[in-house]
Amino acid sequence: MSDITSPQASLRVAERVRNIRISATKLMPMLAAKVGGCVSLGQGVPSFRTPDHIVEAVCRALRDDPTAGRYSLQPGMPALREAIAADILARKGARFDPETEIGVTVGAMEALVMIMLTVVERGDEVIIPSPGYASHAEQVLMAEGVPVHVPLRAADWGLDVDAVRAAVTPRTRAIIVCSPGNPTGGVYDDADVRALCGLALEHDLVLIVDDTYDYMVYGEQPGSPRFPPRFSPVAQPELRRHVITVNSFSKKYALTGWRVGYVAADAAWMAELLKVHDATAVCAPTVSQHAALAALTGPQDCVAAMRAALAARRDLTCRRLDALAPHFAYVPPRGAFYAMARYTFTDAGSMAVARRLLEEARVITVPGGSFGPTGERHLRLSFGMDEAELTEAFDRIQHWVAAL
Ligand SMILES: Cc1ncc(COP(=O)(O)O)c(C=O)c1O
Repeated sequence: MSDITSPQASLRVAERVRNIRISATKLMPMLAAKVGGCVSLGQGVPSFRTPDHIVEAVCRALRDDPTAGRYSLQPGMPALREAIAADILARKGARFDPETEIGVTVGAMEALVMIMLTVVERGDEVIIPSPGYASHAEQVLMAEGVPVHVPLRAADWGLDVDAVRAAVTPRTRAIIVCSPGNPTGGVYDDADVRALCGLALEHDLVLIVDDTYDYMVYGEQPGSPRFPPRFSPVAQPELRRHVITVNSFSKKYALTGWRVGYVAADAAWMAELLKVHDATAVCAPTVSQHAALAALTGPQDCVAAMRAALAARRDLTCRRLDALAPHFAYVPPRGAFYAMARYTFTDAGSMAVARRLLEEARVITVPGGSFGPTGERHLRLSFGMDEAELTEAFDRIQHWVAAL
């Protein structure tokens, strides 16, 4: 086997892979499997089953459509690309040509890797508002770029545009925009996103917009006073060549295991992005594309029901965190389904605290330090699981904290 310590250069693991790590979000459940009997505030997986009408549509396709088990066209099934373009137009007011500007991918994850490999040259800097999604940094490293962590505002996990501006150098190539954010649950203010767009134009930077959680902003749903929602860089014509956006079907439609998402970009970018897609995946799984098509074109009440359930879980999480004061402090999440809980009872690092909680209280959390230096002294708590599991997890933390 190849080994990093091997004296034989030809058997050494390539530096770009030596430099990356499996994220703590995925490691914690593996550790928990060894401990046994754990409940989870760990991985960002909503507890919901894939909605019935999506399952039915996939079964129908497999039964009736002889092409359902074959490769699709490389950028994705035409009907799905059209549905995605219509969805972006309806929700963001941005027009993308389904023929040349939409690519269906193996989750948002593959789309992000495609972008990093296409945009980032060796040594290029990519600004990541921090704490940020751990895989963004790993993907930058995999592309031999340099992740530059710029702290978010600690008071509300909003974007600190002045800090981002100060971090721009001649090597800066791109900025990640992920709002609502994982791991913070923060949502950027429109004025800050506008200012960021100005910065991108001024310095000719690419905005990599990860909209995985764009459907989940608390208090900002159809019918609420703050709807239609936020300013989106994706919809600004002058930023057409500066914005590449990804989205996911994973969380919104309870399709995490189906691995389907997409990238939308100007045709010139897309032609290049699809070369990476071709070399890695050929196409997203065709059955999963049928699932995504049914998700987008079918009834949306499943999304409304999941949003309502997540809103109740958010309230429960906030109540339970309030009761854990002064041992934990937090910013109430405005979007997604995460809270960063800052612990005040020890100076130990977040990995050590997460491991203690796992081994002593049997609760899975994710160490905040794995989301960038600003995440240290925090644990990320996901409230995607149902209320019974959340209640059990917080009961266990309460007992554990009481015995400290
Ligand atoms: C911000 C963010 N981007 C991308 C992904 C990956 O999504 P997918 O399952 O579509 O690959 C996740 C998953 O947790 C995420 O939180």
